[in-house]
Amino acid sequence: MSYIEDMGPGTGVLPPRAFFTSDAASLSLNGTWDFRLSPSAAAAPVDFGGDDWDTITVPGHWQLQGHGSPAYTNVRYPFPVEPPFVPSENPTGDHRLVFDLPASWPDEPAVLRFDGIDSCGLVWLNGVELGVTRGSRLPSEFEVGHLLQPKGNVLVVRVHQWSSGSYLEDQDMWWLSGIFRSVTLLSRPRGGVADFEVHASYDHVTGLGTLSVDGGLVTVPELGVVDLPEGQSVSVAVEPWSAESPRLYDGVVHTAVEHVPVRIGFRTVEITDGVLLVNGARIVFRGVNRHEHHPRFGRAVPSEFAVADILLMKQHNVNAVRTSHYPPDPRFLALCDEYGLWVIDECDLETHGFGELDWAGNPSDDPRWAESCVDRMRRMVERDKNHPSVLLWSLGNESHTGRNLAAMASWARDRDPSRPVHYEGDFDCEYVDVYSRMYASHEEVDEIGRTRADMPFVLCEFAHAMGNGPGGMLEYRELFERYRHVQGGFIWEWIDHGLERDGHYAYGGDFGESIHDGNFVIDGLVFPDRTPSPGLLEFAKVFEPVRITGTSAGVRIASFYDHISLDHLKFEWVYEVDGVEVAEGSLEVPPVAAGQHVDIALPDLDVTTGQPDTTDLPTPSAPTAPLATGEGWLTVRATLAAPTTWAEAGHTVAWGQISITEAAPTNPISAVELVGVGDVLWLGPGEFDPATGLLTRLGDHPVEGPRLDLWRAPTDNDRGSDNPEERAWREAGLHRLQHRVIEVGAQENELVVRTRVAPPSWGFGMFADYTWTADGDRLRLQLDVTPDGDWPCTLPRLGLRLALPGELSSVEWFGAGPGEAYADSRQSARIGRFESTVDALQTPYVFPQENGNRANVRWLRIGDIGVVGEPVFDFTARRWTSEDLDAAQHTTDLKPRDRVYLNLDLAQHGLGTASCGPGVLPQYRLHAQKASFAVNFCPSMRT
Ligand code: GAL
Repeated sequence: MSYIEDMGPGTGVLPPRAFFTSDAASLSLNGTWDFRLSPSAAAAPVDFGGDDWDTITVPGHWQLQGHGSPAYTNVRYPFPVEPPFVPSENPTGDHRLVFDLPASWPDEPAVLRFDGIDSCGLVWLNGVELGVTRGSRLPSEFEVGHLLQPKGNVLVVRVHQWSSGSYLEDQDMWWLSGIFRSVTLLSRPRGGVADFEVHASYDHVTGLGTLSVDGGLVTVPELGVVDLPEGQSVSVAVEPWSAESPRLYDGVVHTAVEHVPVRIGFRTVEITDGVLLVNGARIVFRGVNRHEHHPRFGRAVPSEFAVADILLMKQHNVNAVRTSHYPPDPRFLALCDEYGLWVIDECDLETHGFGELDWAGNPSDDPRWAESCVDRMRRMVERDKNHPSVLLWSLGNESHTGRNLAAMASWARDRDPSRPVHYEGDFDCEYVDVYSRMYASHEEVDEIGRTRADMPFVLCEFAHAMGNGPGGMLEYRELFERYRHVQGGFIWEWIDHGLERDGHYAYGGDFGESIHDGNFVIDGLVFPDRTPSPGLLEFAKVFEPVRITGTSAGVRIASFYDHISLDHLKFEWVYEVDGVEVAEGSLEVPPVAAGQHVDIALPDLDVTTGQPDTTDLPTPSAPTAPLATGEGWLTVRATLAAPTTWAEAGHTVAWGQISITEAAPTNPISAVELVGVGDVLWLGPGEFDPATGLLTRLGDHPVEGPRLDLWRAPTDNDRGSDNPEERAWREAGLHRLQHRVIEVGAQENELVVRTRVAPPSWGFGMFADYTWTADGDRLRLQLDVTPDGDWPCTLPRLGLRLALPGELSSVEWFGAGPGEAYADSRQSARIGRFESTVDALQTPYVFPQENGNRANVRWLRIGDIGVVGEPVFDFTARRWTSEDLDAAQHTTDLKPRDRVYLNLDLAQHGLGTASCGPGVLPQYRLHAQKASFAVNFCPSMRT
């Protein structure tokens, strides 16, 4: 059997050890290498000389540098399942680098370290074969000191896309090959630090940290620790390390000849009475699953983007990362130590494709793979053992069950008793310390909360962030707060894995793959370019560590931190009436310890005389339009009092709004007369077609009258896996409703248009009555709907759609904003007055779908057309129709038309997270039912 298909670990490699840099010489071999791609291992030339090579950037993937194509599958292996064999058509990339040593390079042993080669590499230095790497996202080191020469060293790495290891690396992501992490030559001085392990625990009762180090002497000047020898420990008063307060002590692990800078964080992880504790306190994971992804570089993520990820996470109240589904670039963990994130470090193991075969032949339970599985665990643990951020070791992902997983767990526990073991697939918890599940419904988590208090429970994946969503995060948070051992979870997932191509982001199938899983790879809280999606903003709000709410007496400030007080925050308030600021100030908040709350009095708001100067408010030209209603909101923000490593002073960590005065009711309309001349009907500013009853003109604006609309371009969650709503909606024909005019009733001062709206082929439908009245420049529409017959499904939306002239562009509203909001994902929208444009209202989901809804809108101005709710409505405005949005596959398919399509909704169906997980919770489902809804149109509203 060739080395490519050998089921064992790599060969010729050195025992695994911690990843570190020291004062010993090192040489980065990253940069431009020679490269050539052969269609198979057999076709790869035997000769590594010659000039007939292209070039490639290392680290990098060849498929993203013009050689071959990326391919995406979620579960299925893209090759026949006959382990350990792989296709003969096995793209093979030869990488060659000629390098000189710096003049100062010492005459000492040296190792060549590869941080990651996907999937298997055969390595030669100066014509001598060093061995084989396996385990794509794990390091491999080779002893090379004896082979080095001052000049003209020739390093050749033959990398195969497929190998036996591919069976163990079936993660839901792009198949991308190459030397995708750094390559470094490291001098290993005789008598240097071969490897080391820092033990730094914290006793929350005594406040003492206990430090010992294996592998060298340790000096930590700040703690007065000088040359503490191996095998000895010292206990000193320290500040503990936590994700909330990532206190690190700089030190040096050293021998006589080598010094390794270390950053030591004191912390203790334990499970007591079924609860996971850090430094004695229960923690809650407000986490994300992070794949390494960049839209141009794939998994070869330049370090500035790893930093960007961490800054964005911290700024959006993420406190934990599961490194799905492989150990990340080792530098990422140092960043987690520094910025403060709890980490579940996951091994590079997933055999999900065997699920398609009912798990027959699953490597997790086949002894021939045992050594390989344990080798992967060993390499992760040894590499990452010195990071305080790593709390749990995870065996891997979706590899079912089996003795090899048990062996990995027991190896890890023996080697590192200081960290519990995690793995999701072990439902019976035979070899894990933490019960972990993915996508369990709220109901099931509640049941786990009630019945399984013997172990900590985490959702290693929940709230699938594919497309528009996830909905229902708030209700998960409530469960994390209800049960002590239900300790949070990790959103699936951090980033959309879109790849830049032709002005849009590509997903599965865009590269002509014959087997693929489409846009299932586009399911992150940030877009491929790391722009936060509305889902991330919602996450930040739902999981904010401070909750600010109104009480009968004033304001409650409640801490949801697990370790730190609120001392680092300032509390500022603004009072707005009708969205216009009338007063502001700061709140004096007494000290609040982790998990505690205080109630304080409202600031002194003179709500009777504190009315805003309404001359600045948007008013329609008609004086009767009800815009200045005296609706008053107090917004309190918790902001950073001083800059941190991850945000500026003033950054908002949490906020809350308290209703102070309610809106005065809308002025009733004092109806004007309906006038009919020839084939036109006029009512106030509205012009109607007497045959259809449709509004054709509003003031000077041609419009295509509002009609009942029940359709939205399905979201990924609507299209979700189990029993999708979208299927029911399409079968019901909601995307092709027909409108039958029953009667256009012109009365003295109202126009009543009675219609029945229904899909073709079916008997059910909806009576929709439009009652128009007018008052000066204000045109009021009341819509009354009554279902007729048995409706087989929920409704995507219930509201009105109208087409307006395309010149309208600027948008302003008073309501929830500034971002989009849906019934079950609306925490991050606050009540205020916001400005935007039709174009900027769109959320560019990589796979086009319903987006951009603004909720709870009191009034809207679009161009100079005003819409005033009774009391509120939701709206979307876009330059394409819902049907265009429905048909589009990529953002570039959306071509602006010469109209603005405005939807004014009474409600939309919630979002849920059925693209992978539970659907819309009952309270957010929209059913066909009798409903009434009124809006007022003003043809020329000025602001
Ligand atoms: C999980 C899996 C993830 C991802 C997710 C769906 O089952 O662990 O890797 O596939 O589903 O996006």
